[in-house]
Order: sequence, then structure tokens, then C-alpha cells
Amino acid sequence: MGLLFIFISSFLITTISPSYGYDPLDPHANITITWDLMIDNGDTYDVKVSLLNFQLFRHIEQPGWKLSWTWKGDEAIWGIWGAEAIQQGNCSRIKGPVLPHCCEKQPVIVDLMPGARYNKQVANCCKGGVLTSMTQDHSMYVAALRMNVNKASGNNTSDGFMPVNFNLGLPGYTCGDPFQVPPSKFKEDGSRRWTQVLDTWNVTCIYSQFRASPTPKCCVSLSAFYNNTIVPCPQCSCNCQELAGAKCVKSAKALPMLELPHANEEEPQPLVRCSKHMCPIRVHWHVKQSYREYWRVKITITNLNFVKNYSKWNLVVLHPNFRNVTQVFSFNYHPLSPYGNINDTGMFWGIPYYNEMLLQSGPSGNVQTEMLLQKDPGTFTFREGWTFPRRISFNGDECVMPPPDEYPRLPNSGHSATVRPLIILLLLLLLVVVL
Ligand SMILES: *[C@@H]1O[C@H](CO)[C@@H](O)[C@H](O)[C@H]1NC(C)=O
Ligand SMILES: *[C@@H]1O[C@H](CO)[C@@H](O)[C@H](O)[C@H]1NC(C)=O
Ligand SMILES: *[C@@H]1O[C@H](CO)[C@@H](O)[C@H](O)[C@H]1NC(C)=O
Ligand SMILES: *[C@@H]1O[C@H](CO)[C@@H](O)[C@H](O)[C@H]1NC(C)=O
Ligand SMILES: *[C@@H]1O[C@H](CO)[C@@H](O)[C@H](O)[C@H]1NC(C)=O
Ligand SMILES: *[C@@H]1O[C@H](CO)[C@@H](O)[C@H](O)[C@H]1NC(C)=O
Ligand SMILES: *[C@@H]1O[C@H](CO)[C@@H](O)[C@H](O)[C@H]1NC(C)=O
Ligand SMILES: *[C@@H]1O[C@H](CO)[C@@H](O)[C@H](O)[C@H]1NC(C)=O
Ligand SMILES: *[C@@H]1O[C@H](CO)[C@@H](O)[C@H](O)[C@H]1NC(C)=O
Repeated sequence: MGLLFIFISSFLITTISPSYGYDPLDPHANITITWDLMIDNGDTYDVKVSLLNFQLFRHIEQPGWKLSWTWKGDEAIWGIWGAEAIQQGNCSRIKGPVLPHCCEKQPVIVDLMPGARYNKQVANCCKGGVLTSMTQDHSMYVAALRMNVNKASGNNTSDGFMPVNFNLGLPGYTCGDPFQVPPSKFKEDGSRRWTQVLDTWNVTCIYSQFRASPTPKCCVSLSAFYNNTIVPCPQCSCNCQELAGAKCVKSAKALPMLELPHANEEEPQPLVRCSKHMCPIRVHWHVKQSYREYWRVKITITNLNFVKNYSKWNLVVLHPNFRNVTQVFSFNYHPLSPYGNINDTGMFWGIPYYNEMLLQSGPSGNVQTEMLLQKDPGTFTFREGWTFPRRISFNGDECVMPPPDEYPRLPNSGHSATVRPLIILLLLLLLVVVL
């Protein structure tokens, strides 16, 4: 019964769950671009553009965002602070002793690196394109830039200055159309006065794991103290080793000479350790110990990718006992309650300067935690795989779980208890037939 229930519920979870944009663990997740028209100078105007990562656990890591849009007319960016356009483009239409910063119809803007020249900085800029999630670091989830733009020639200011076709330049994200919102306001004079900008537009960008990559990037293996079987990641979770074109490496020694990517270059394709599951990330959940009132879980995250260090990684886990998390060792932990007071989801991430960076495949390519949970007498059980997670995601991408009927089983429980009388009955029948 219980197994069937777990099977049905995990089936429901996986079928309801998001392949297209919507994540039930973070239903309002979005990155918002705000476009604040600060000053209209006549033939030019000043804009402040901000990127706000309103996602609970998904973050943007190296090589970072690459913001682009399409101007409606022949606008040009004369000056920009806190970021830069990667191409100046064709400025031959501008006559004068100085040329604009960028004349492209579709400028592509990247963040400046930390420590940029002081006169090129603005508040919240210069993070190398990296944005943390809202939960993980409240100081690093916003990016901002400021620019001075030449108005388009012709007579076309009726529908505003607003460009279209915004894009974050990140796999999996798509942005909607800009919409006008009430102008942003800022406090001044120790909050005694509010100033406001001339006009504000928002653009909302949404992530879809499916659009980012149709194949998973992470899988889960399970074990428990009461059974010495280790249930591995399902075969072909991320790719099949036997498949033509599947690339993997047996050990670091066999690694071909690699050109490591520089900042602001495309992220390299994962080069994984050969395995039956071929995932770059494996999460192992071990039910380690049972005490009278508590039980202990060990979680190990292993990086099997030879070409990537995961910085500011995070793990989101769904388990019904998370409302009774008592202690978490070596990781940061924060409960997430996307649906009010149901505390069954939590987020783990590394401790700065200790295990915030999950190093590339090799002897130090793993991070681990142990966690104490209080047994709730009403619901706690070692039976039917109840102590295993219902759902795990790494860096916001869902991990492939083994099928529930393969979970490590308590000796002499569940199945065997109901199956044994049946087998005896069959044997009896056989005996009767034979005799
Ligand atoms: C974006 O996320 C923020 C914070 O969760 C939320 O307040 C806002 O409504 C979201 N925007 C959209 C368009 O969903
Ligand atoms: C003016 O705007 C309209 C609508 O956005 C566009 O179709 C037209 O080409 C623009 N004209 C000029 C001169 O840019
Ligand atoms: C640059 O733009 C001008 C018009 O603005 C055009 O005549 C010229 O062909 C362009 N040059 C190139 C190399 O595209
Ligand atoms: C804008 O258009 C109006 C009428 O169409 C015209 O009178 C005016 O001179 C134009 N302004 C500019 C700057 O082209
Ligand atoms: C526009 O974005 C800002 C974030 O900068 C947010 O506070 C505001 O609620 C958004 N407005 C709408 C209508 O989504
Ligand atoms: C990962 O970090 C280690 C130690 O900082 C460094 O030696 C290695 O080159 C990095 N690997 C990649 C792929 O960036
Ligand atoms: C349950 O959720 C609330 C609200 O998010 C949080 O304040 C509380 O610490 C959570 N409790 C546990 C044990 O995770
Ligand atoms: C577990 O958490 C729930 C909700 O916070 C609480 O009602 C219950 O008493 C807790 N159980 C134990 C054994 O602490
Ligand atoms: C351990 O779990 C596996 C997988 O469910 C099961 O096949 C095996 O019989 C269990 N071992 C014992 C000793 O119960």
C-alpha cells in the first residue's frame, strides 16, 4: 500500500512538475529587468537598467548575464557606467569628433568585473555578471548599469523610448514584452523626501529547465544503515554511455589537454567521468543512524564534471520531515515554504571560504553535510522508503531519482511480509498438484 502510494505521489510530482517554465517549489520565480528613465536631456536621455534575481534558489554564475535588446529606431549609446557593450558596431552615421560607445541596433551588454575603474562604476554594478539567488545572499541578487542614449531620429517618441526583444543571454531564460509600471521612487534626505524617475518599465524573464537543456544534469543515489545495498542513480539518467556521441573520461589522467574558459566566454560542455548515469552531479542520500527521538541523514554532492567548479552551488530538497529539522552541519540551511506553512522544503548551500565552491571532478570534488531530524511519532517510519527525499534539485535543476520500488528496504518488511504468504500458498498449491 505504502509503496504504491509513494509511487503514485512521485508519479504525480514528476508529471505535474515543470518542464515549461513553472517550478512548483518556486512558483513566482523570475528575473525582472527594470528600465528607469531618469532624465530627458532633449536629444539624449539617461536610463538606469537593473536586473533583479527574484528566484529563491536559482542563481547566475560565470560567465554571467549578457543583456541585449533591440532599439526601435537608430538610437546610440553615448556613455555607459557599470557595464559595457561588447561591440561598438557601425557608427559611420554619426558625424563628429567623438563616437558613441555603441551604435548597434541590438547591443549586447555585459557586466564589468569586480574592481572596475572607479569612474566607470555605479551602485550595485561590477559583479562579473554573477547574481546570487534571493535566499543565498541578499547583497548580490541585483545588478545595475546606467547609460546615456541618443534619441532616435525621426518623429517617433509617441510610443516612448522603450526598446523591445529583451534577452538575458542565459540558457533557458526567455523575457516577455516591456510593460509600463508606476515610476520607481527613491528615498532622499534620510527618508524625509521621496524622489521619482520619469518613467519605469519592467520586463519579466522566466526560466525553463527544459529550454535550458532537454537532458537532466543531476541524479540521486540512496542508501540506509539497515541495508547494505547502495541504490545507484538510474542508468542513462543524463545520457547513455553507449550512445554514439556520448563523451566521457575514465579518470583525470586520461583527460585531454583542456583550454580552460576565461571569464565572459561561453560555458564549456560538461566533460563527465564515465558512469552508467553520465551525470555531471550526483547527490547521495544516506540514512545514517536512528536514535530514540532523532534520525541522522548524510548528504554528499559529488562533482563528476572535469571542466567545471560550481561556485555558490545550492541544493533544494523536499521531504515531509523537514518541518522537524533540528541541526544541519557544514552547510547553510534555510526552510522554503512556497505554500505557506507546509514546511517540507529546504535549501542547502555552502559556507563561504569553506565549501561554497564545489571543485571539479577529483579527490576534492565533493561536499557533504549531516543533518539531525526529530522523529514525529505520528508520521515517522523507516518503512516504505519514507526516509528518502521526495524531490531534489541542484542549482535549480531537478535531479533524477531512482524508482521508488528500488529504494533500500528494511529487512523482513513491506513487500516480503505480504509476498511470503502468497509464495507459501503457491508452494502448497504446487505440492497439491504434484502429489
Ligand atoms: C517576480 O518575482 C517577485 C518576487 O517574488 C514577485 O513579487 C513578482 O510578482 C514577480 N513578477 C511576476 C511578473 O511574476
Ligand atoms: C516609428 O515607429 C513605428 C512603430 O514603432 C515604426 O513602424 C516606424 O518605422 C518608426 N519610424 C521611424 C522613422 O523610426
Ligand atoms: C555602416 O552604416 C552605414 C549607414 O549608416 C552604411 O552605409 C554602411 O554600409 C555601413 N557599413 C558597414 C560595413 O556595414
Ligand atoms: C514631427 O511631426 C510633426 C507632424 O507630423 C511635424 O510638424 C514636426 O516638425 C516633426 N518634428 C520633428 C522633430 O521631426
Ligand atoms: C517592477 O519591478 C520592480 C523591481 O524593480 C518591482 O518592485 C515591481 O513590483 C515590478 N512591478 C510590477 C508591476 O511587476
Ligand atoms: C577549479 O578550482 C581549482 C582550485 O581553485 C583550480 O585549480 C582549477 O583549475 C579550477 N577548474 C576549473 C575548470 O576552473
Ligand atoms: C518553517 O517555516 C517557517 C516560515 O518559512 C520558518 O520560519 C521556520 O523556521 C520553519 N521551521 C523549520 C523547522 O524549518
Ligand atoms: C514537528 O513539527 C511540527 C510542525 O512544526 C510540530 O507540530 C511537531 O510537534 C514537531 N514534532 C516533534 C516531534 O517535534
Ligand atoms: C535491501 O534493499 C534492496 C532494494 O530494495 C532489496 O532488494 C534487498 O532485499 C534489501 N536487503 C535486505 C537484507 O533486506
